[in-house]
Amino acid sequence: MKVSDRVSSIEPSPIRKLMDRVGSMREVLGLHVGEPDFDTPKIIKEAAKRALDEGATHYTFAAGIPELREAIAEKLLRENSVTADPEGEITVTIGGYGAIFSAIQALVNIGDEVLIPEPAWPAYRGFVRLAGGIPIPIPLKPPEYMLDVDAIEDRITEKTKMIIINTPNNPVGSVYPKDVLTCIARLSAEKQIYLLSDEVYEKIVFDGISHFSPASIQDAREYVISIYSFSKTYAMTGWRIGYVVASKDVTRAIRVVHSYMASCVSPAVQIAALTALREAEDYVRMMVDKYRERRDLAYDLLSEIPGVECIKPKGTFYLFPDFSHIEPSSIKLSEKLLEKARVATVPGLAFGEAGEGHLRISVAASSETIREAIHRIKRIVLC
Ligand SMILES: Cc1ncc(COP(=O)(O)O)c(C=O)c1O
Repeated sequence: MKVSDRVSSIEPSPIRKLMDRVGSMREVLGLHVGEPDFDTPKIIKEAAKRALDEGATHYTFAAGIPELREAIAEKLLRENSVTADPEGEITVTIGGYGAIFSAIQALVNIGDEVLIPEPAWPAYRGFVRLAGGIPIPIPLKPPEYMLDVDAIEDRITEKTKMIIINTPNNPVGSVYPKDVLTCIARLSAEKQIYLLSDEVYEKIVFDGISHFSPASIQDAREYVISIYSFSKTYAMTGWRIGYVVASKDVTRAIRVVHSYMASCVSPAVQIAALTALREAEDYVRMMVDKYRERRDLAYDLLSEIPGVECIKPKGTFYLFPDFSHIEPSSIKLSEKLLEKARVATVPGLAFGEAGEGHLRISVAASSETIREAIHRIKRIVLC
C-alpha cells in the first residue's frame, strides 16, 4: 500500500498509543489521562436526549446552529472580552481538534513554518505536517515555562506563517499573563503572522489567576485565531464539540475545510452545548475546585521525593515534574513505572525535546489514586 507523503510524515499520537496500551493492561493506576474523570452534567445529557426526541437528527448549518453561535458570542464578550460576530466569525467544530485542524489547513501552505513553543501538546506537530507545513519548536522559558517572546521573534523568517500558543498550557500547567500575551499578539500583528491561541483549558485556572484571550486586543484581532472547546470545561470529551473564532476572511477559509471534513456537528450535541453554556457553571466551579485540591495533593507528594523538582501549576489538570536527576530518559522512566509500579504517566519527550527528563502527571483521577500512585512512584525511584 502506498500512503500519501503527508500521512507517512507523521507518527501516530504518542499519547493515544499509550492510552491504547494502558487500556489493555490490568490494574494500572492512570495518571496519564488527558480528560476529566467527572461525568458530563445530567442537565446536559438530558438536553441531548430531549433534542433527539424532538427531531434534532439532521444536518445543520455547517457553521453551527445560530442559537449556539449567538450564545457563544455572548460568552466571548462576557468572559473573554472578545467581540465576535456569530454570523461570520464563529464556527462550531468537532472539538478543539476540528477547530485546530481546520484553521491550520485553511492557512498553512506547503513549506510554511509554524512556530511551536515547547513542551507542547504533540498533536500540533501532526496538524502542521498534515498541511505540508514545517513545525519549528521553540523552548518555553524554564523553570516557570513562560512564553519567550524574544526567542520567538528571533526565529521569525519570511517563511513563518503562524505561531501556536496554548494557555493554560498542556503539559506544563502555566498560564500566560496579560502582558506577555499582549506582546505576542502585537508581534504577530506587526509581522503579519497568524497567532493560533489554543484556550481549551480556559476555565481550569487556580489561585485567583484569570485567563486572558489575546483576541481581546483590538489591534491584533485580525491575526488571532482562538480555539475553544466544551471537552475539558464541561467534561464532554466524547461529545466532540468546540469552536473557533477568527476574522471574517479567515473564518470563510476555515469553514471550507470544516464543511468538507465534517459537514456539521451533530445537532443534538450542539443543543447540549447550548445548555452547557447556559446552565452548567456551578458544575464547572465544582470540578475546578476538585482539580485544585488534587493539584495541591500531587504537588506536595511529588515535592517530597528527593531529586524531583516540581512547579505548582496555575491551570489545567496536569503537573510536569522534573525527574532528570533520577533518570534522564523520560521514556525509560515512564516505562519502568508502568511495568514495575503499574502507574501510567506520559513521558515528557512526547511533548518535544524541551520536555525530556519530565513526566506529565494528570490529576484527573481520584485523590486515593493520586496518593497511591505517587507513593508507588516514590518507592520505585528511591530503590
Ligand atoms: C492543548 C489541547 N488542545 C486541544 C485539545 C483538543 O481537545 P478536544 O478536541 O477534545 O476539544 C486537547 C486535548 O487533549 C489539548 O490538550
